[in-house]
Parts: sequence; C-alpha cells; structure tokens
Amino acid sequence: MSSNIKKIGVLTSGGDSPGMNAAIRAVVRACAYHNIECTGIYRGYQGMIEGDFKEMGARSVNNIINKGGTILKSARSKEFMTPEGRKKAHENLVSNNIDALVIIGGNGSFTGGLIFNEEYNFPVIGIPGTIDNDIYGTSHTLGYDTALNTVVEAIDKIRDTASSHNRLFFVEVMGRDAGHIALNAGIGAGAEEILIPEEDMGLDRLLDSLRKSKASGKSSSLVIVAEGDKIGKNVFELKDYVEENMPEYDVRVSILGHMQRGGSPSCFDRVLASRLGVKAVETLLEGKSNFMVGLIKDEVELTPLDMAVKGKSHIDKELIKVSDIVSI
Ligand code: F6P
Repeated sequence: MSSNIKKIGVLTSGGDSPGMNAAIRAVVRACAYHNIECTGIYRGYQGMIEGDFKEMGARSVNNIINKGGTILKSARSKEFMTPEGRKKAHENLVSNNIDALVIIGGNGSFTGGLIFNEEYNFPVIGIPGTIDNDIYGTSHTLGYDTALNTVVEAIDKIRDTASSHNRLFFVEVMGRDAGHIALNAGIGAGAEEILIPEEDMGLDRLLDSLRKSKASGKSSSLVIVAEGDKIGKNVFELKDYVEENMPEYDVRVSILGHMQRGGSPSCFDRVLASRLGVKAVETLLEGKSNFMVGLIKDEVELTPLDMAVKGKSHIDKELIKVSDIVSI
C-alpha cells in the first residue's frame, strides 16, 4: 500500500468499553505491519490539546488484548469543543508529524473528529467503541457483547436472591439513549418486563403485566430498566409506585452502574476490535477519510462518519415480541 501517510495517531474518547485495548493493539500492529509509525494519544482529545503523546511499536501493546478499560485513558474534553482547543490540538499533531487519526469512541467523539476534519482537512477514521451499541452503521459496537454478558451474569445472581425472598426487583442497566443492553440482556436473563427508551410502555401496562405475572403463579419477578427509559420515573420512583399500587409485592432496586463498563473483553469483542483496527488503518492508507468502520452482516464495512453520527441504531422489534412471549 503506498500513501502519503507515514504516521497515524490513535486515541480513545468518551465512555470506555471492553475491547478498546484490543482495538488499540490492532491499530498499532497494523501500522507496524504496513511500515508506518503510530502514536498513542492519551486522554482522548484532551491529551491531543496537551500534547500527551507516546510512540507505540508492535511490542508496546503486548498483553493488552485481554484487558478491560483503555491503556490510553479516556476523557470527554470540553476544550476540544472550542476552536482554540482544536487549534492547539492541530499544532501538536503537526509538530509530532502525525498525518491521520483513528478515533475509538462513540457519537460525541465522532462529531469532534468531523469538525476537526472540516477545519483542518485532517484525515480521520472512527471505530465505534461504546457498550450502548447505539451507533448507526454497525450491528455491534466494541464492548457491547462483553457488557451483555456482564449484565446477564449479574442478573442471574439477583434472580437467586429474588426467588429466595419472593421479591420483585427493578434492575437498572446502562443505556443513556438506547435500550439494546436492557432488551438483549433482559431476554437473556429471563426478565418479566423490559423498559427501554425507544418504547414508552406506560405505568398502567407495567402494573397490568405484574398483576398477570402474579396471577400466573410467579412468586418473584425481574424488571430490567434502561437508564434512559422514557416511562418518566427513575427506578426508585418505580419501586414506590409499584409498592403503593401493589402492596402484595416486596420490591427492591439494583443499579448495576459502571461495573457494566469494565472487565476482560469477550472473544467476540476481541475479534471485532482486531478486524476494525486493521480496517481503520488500511482505509487511511488507501487515502480515505471521514468513515467509520463497522460490522454489517458480519462483514467489515465503511459508513460515512456523518451518517454514523446522524443515523439512528434501531431496536429490533422482533425482540420485543419475543420478550413478551417468553416472559408469559
Ligand atoms: O455511553 C456509555 C455510557 O456507559 C452510558 O450508558 C452511560 O449513560 C454513560 O456512559 C455514563 O457516563 P459516565 O461514565 O461519564 O458517567
């Protein structure tokens, strides 16, 4: 592959996700394979502004494929949202001879990359990394599969105690704007009800469903609530509401929180990270910019970065139907 790109910068930005290290490793090693240099940029765009850079060779990423988090650290930089911040970042890239960027992150990180490209004509490629799976142009984001397994394992444990005490549990899972984790982990863990931002179930239907559960002989119940659910009440308010209306239920709340973002990546996430990392570097070397690499029907495909940012990742309606049937 011949191209003008001699050095690529790689950064992780926004919320971390399992598989980011495997993606960094793939980017670094793809650069080494194609005989170009690679620079790791610490703390996302903030490190770019502060010149927090480190040269990375193939051996610098030994023993990280199995590690959660990101060795490059991550941040949500307010300064990069200003033209002055981006100017400083650009100056640092130029003085370090960096010709292109691989941005591993979510929608906010890609938006930053697009603005930067527009202002400085700087080549950028995005790799979708977030546990939320809420990015258009890929069936799976890095970390989503691992997070699902983490959540299912946690709910299995909650089920044990819920069933011993005949209790109803509201389990809140991550997903600021998307219900992918709630829906898939909810089905995988055998939940009675799943509340997601994409569908406003309404409180009446929730009560109705819980009454039916009780009447059908279920002694304990699990309701999975996505953090960004639109029913209008947080999990603690839901608990109070159900206890007021159905005093026969002994209700508890469990918020899984940031444990969902940690842990060793699943094999699926490691393979995905490796494929996307290699494709990101090769796409830059082909002279392309402003694309996101993603997985579509198990093929690695390019989606224009602005489409990835603007597009919506849809919930699979079939899963909602399946959940309704299997939770009867
Ligand atoms: O975007 C991923 C995510 O984990 C969301 O599900 C969650 O709302 C958010 O990040 C939490 O962000 P922070 O770590 O900044 O609290």
